[in-house]
Amino acid sequence: MWRSFWVAALLPLAITSTTSPVSPDSGNEWIDFVDSKLKNVASNLKDLHHSGVSPPKSITSSRCKIYPGDASWPSDEAWGTLNTLTDNRLLNRPDPQASVCYDGPLFNATKCDELAAVWSVSYSHYIDPIEMMSPVAQGMTCLPPNIFDSHNCTRGGFPAYVINATEPQHVQAGVNFARNTGVRLVVKNTGHDFLGKSGGKDALSIWTHHFKSIEFIEKFEDKVLGYNGPAFKNGVGVQAFEIYNAAHEKGHSVVGGEGETVGIMGGYIQGGGHSPLSSLYGTGADQVLSYEVVTAAGDLVTANSTSNTDLFWAMRGGGGSTFGVAISVTVKAHPDFPTTVSRFSFTSEKIGNETFWAGIRAYVDYFIPNAEAGTYSYFTLIPNVWTGIFTFNMSPFFAPNKTLEEATALLNPWFTRLDDLGITFDPNITHFGNFYDAWRNSFPLELVEKINATTGSRMFPRANFETAEKREELYSNLRQSSENNRVQVHFNMKVVDPANADNAVNSAWRDNILFAQQAVRWPLNGTAEETLKIRKEFQEGDMQRWRDISPGAGSYLAEADRMEPNFGQAFWGTKYPRLLELKSKLDPYDVFFATTSVGSERWKVESIDGLPNENGKLCRVE
Ligand SMILES: Cc1cc2nc3c(=O)[nH]c(=O)nc-3n(C[C@H](O)[C@H](O)[C@H](O)COP(=O)(O)OP(=O)(O)OC[C@H]3O[C@@H](n4cnc5c(N)ncnc54)[C@H](O)[C@@H]3O)c2cc1C
Ligand SMILES: *[C@@H]1O[C@H](CO)[C@@H](O)[C@H](O)[C@H]1NC(C)=O
Ligand SMILES: *[C@@H]1O[C@H](CO)[C@@H](O)[C@H](O)[C@H]1NC(C)=O
Ligand SMILES: *[C@@H]1O[C@H](CO)[C@@H](O)[C@H](O)[C@H]1NC(C)=O
Ligand SMILES: *[C@@H]1O[C@H](CO)[C@@H](O)[C@H](O)[C@H]1NC(C)=O
Ligand SMILES: *[C@@H]1O[C@H](CO)[C@@H](O)[C@H](O)[C@H]1NC(C)=O
Ligand SMILES: *[C@@H]1O[C@H](CO)[C@@H](O)[C@H](O)[C@H]1NC(C)=O
Ligand SMILES: *[C@@H]1O[C@H](CO)[C@@H](O)[C@H](O)[C@H]1NC(C)=O
Ligand SMILES: *[C@@H]1O[C@H](CO)[C@@H](O)[C@H](O)[C@H]1NC(C)=O
Ligand SMILES: *[C@@H]1O[C@H](CO)[C@@H](O)[C@H](O)[C@H]1NC(C)=O
Repeated sequence: MWRSFWVAALLPLAITSTTSPVSPDSGNEWIDFVDSKLKNVASNLKDLHHSGVSPPKSITSSRCKIYPGDASWPSDEAWGTLNTLTDNRLLNRPDPQASVCYDGPLFNATKCDELAAVWSVSYSHYIDPIEMMSPVAQGMTCLPPNIFDSHNCTRGGFPAYVINATEPQHVQAGVNFARNTGVRLVVKNTGHDFLGKSGGKDALSIWTHHFKSIEFIEKFEDKVLGYNGPAFKNGVGVQAFEIYNAAHEKGHSVVGGEGETVGIMGGYIQGGGHSPLSSLYGTGADQVLSYEVVTAAGDLVTANSTSNTDLFWAMRGGGGSTFGVAISVTVKAHPDFPTTVSRFSFTSEKIGNETFWAGIRAYVDYFIPNAEAGTYSYFTLIPNVWTGIFTFNMSPFFAPNKTLEEATALLNPWFTRLDDLGITFDPNITHFGNFYDAWRNSFPLELVEKINATTGSRMFPRANFETAEKREELYSNLRQSSENNRVQVHFNMKVVDPANADNAVNSAWRDNILFAQQAVRWPLNGTAEETLKIRKEFQEGDMQRWRDISPGAGSYLAEADRMEPNFGQAFWGTKYPRLLELKSKLDPYDVFFATTSVGSERWKVESIDGLPNENGKLCRVE
């Protein structure tokens, strides 16, 4: 993969830092490490990798991050030095997967067909160093042509260089290099992020996917957090299917999402993360006992309840790619328990619109009691533009720690009303002996790589369900969205606030009863202006209606629209002012950036087509 840099004549170095490295946390260890690895390298190149250095003035005052073609873009020799320091794990412009579909040295029609057949499956993308599962955010520049014909395969929002990291030192080298050169830094784990926060044009990317260790700790005690029990210490590349399986083998469960390939220990946990177990234990971030983190200064530190407590607070809910790169995360392990699950669906086809919607209206009456009982339901409302038929899908109703009888008793009041309305829905209610089997058998593997849709979200609080009038208002807003052809995905759950959960998790989660998502779609053949207009109208129309009936509530940073207005309030609620302060303190040079992350208001990706995507330079907003 690595293409030699040493053929080029040695280019003059643009970066000359005279600041001596200061590294309060790790002392001289890192400097010694660099010196021993780079014995024969010029000292100004070593400076690129020193911790704690303030970037030169030319970088802190540059309007944009540093890009190819800029005088101060690092020389090939400088990139080669980074490669040495990362044990030859620096990938130079790894090819987009769909290059096999376009003219060029990699063209192979068979391979292209094979890729196209599995393109919407997440397994095809998290194994790739650059692929992000949101091509809309990537800029749509290289997809299999039968999915979207980009006419040519260009890099778009993909990074230029990728560190395939397996050691903390690889991450430290990347952070120091980016900070001291001004090159844009991104962090990619699995690439699931719907907003495309794992990519950036011509950036240096740190790929965390191969931090895969899982260690069971029988007894972890933290008096400040009030925790004394089992835990798992995980590499940040650990995904849902891996940690659930590992926990199951030890007779435990952990809090994670429903999607099987999501990077639970990466972006998910730092961003708050909701779970089929949130009604019992809260968010993913509420489970964190300790992080190992490479800071913006390049130091490897522990962030826990007694060390680097600001960082610990911010990284539990404040979002990924903002305060540091996590290397490992230790989380609470909970007891395993039996779980009851139910799946069913009905449509308006035979019963007509009014009866269908009366069935949905009846369901809204049970959102509070079902969430209170500790259950989680994941359901969709899907309109069909062509037939005018609506479909409701319960996929599934998930009742952890409930017997078949208990779960049935919770569903029965609504089922009786559906029966009275003449709605047939044929529920399958199954009891599983443990959480793992229930999860494994009940959730679909969702499709990824949507090319002409984006999703907005709202956390509807308890107040929206407390009176019959409020429930009626909420229901009619959901119906209106369906009639406007919005595909809706909903989670009826409560997100408990466990003891001592003083962290950066969106305050709006604690009041949540319905976490609601709706999608906007646009024609693939429209101009950028037309697409932008449709996306704006969605925000000003259907999304604004949802905001209007839930004043002060929030949206979830990992399942949201890049165009969510006032995202700081929406994604963090009352936590935002402190997060902004900590961002300035912990990352004063904005080494870390992701669109809609804390402090990202100071920057903007100037995309080539003017749409909200990563295909452009990252520049300061002035
Ligand atoms: C199919 C599917 C199902 C989902 N299900 C759920 C669910 O049930 N519950 C839920 O809450 N969410 C769910 N999500 C949303 C998911 O939580 C987000 O997409 C999340 O960002 C994924 O994190 P990742 O690390 O896998 O992805 P990436 O896209 O690789 O990373 C996401 C963000 O985190 C940053 N990041 C990743 N690792 C690190 C690290 N070690 N240090 C610093 N920054 C880092 C990245 O830079 C990026 O900004 C789902 C998404 C999909 C596509
Ligand atoms: C194209 O890809 C197919 C399938 O992976 C492979 O068998 C074949 O050898 C490739 N053809 C060329 C010319 O490389
Ligand atoms: C494809 O992209 C490359 C690189 O940007 C460019 O040189 C080339 O002209 C493009 N080809 C077509 C047919 O657009
Ligand atoms: C990344 O590193 C892992 C672990 O060493 C290795 O298995 C994988 O092949 C590497 N990927 C690439 C694209 O270099
Ligand atoms: C926090 O981390 C520090 C440094 O590793 C360690 O000394 C301390 O014991 C940890 N605190 C807790 C509560 O585990
Ligand atoms: C139901 O509503 C949809 C959308 O509003 C409409 O297209 C359809 O014709 C209606 N169906 C019936 C049977 O009235
Ligand atoms: C699970 O159910 C048992 C029996 O009802 C109860 O004692 C226990 O507290 C429950 N566990 C959780 C996490 O709610
Ligand atoms: C009900 O669901 C279970 C678990 O998913 C499945 O094994 C079973 O086949 C289903 N039963 C019917 C009748 O569909
Ligand atoms: C969006 O793309 C899909 C193909 O994935 C296509 O079927 C659909 O018609 C497109 N939607 C619009 C509104 O163009
Ligand atoms: C775009 O495609 C739609 C059908 O999906 C068609 O009705 C419309 O005319 C097309 N617009 C343009 C500009 O080609």
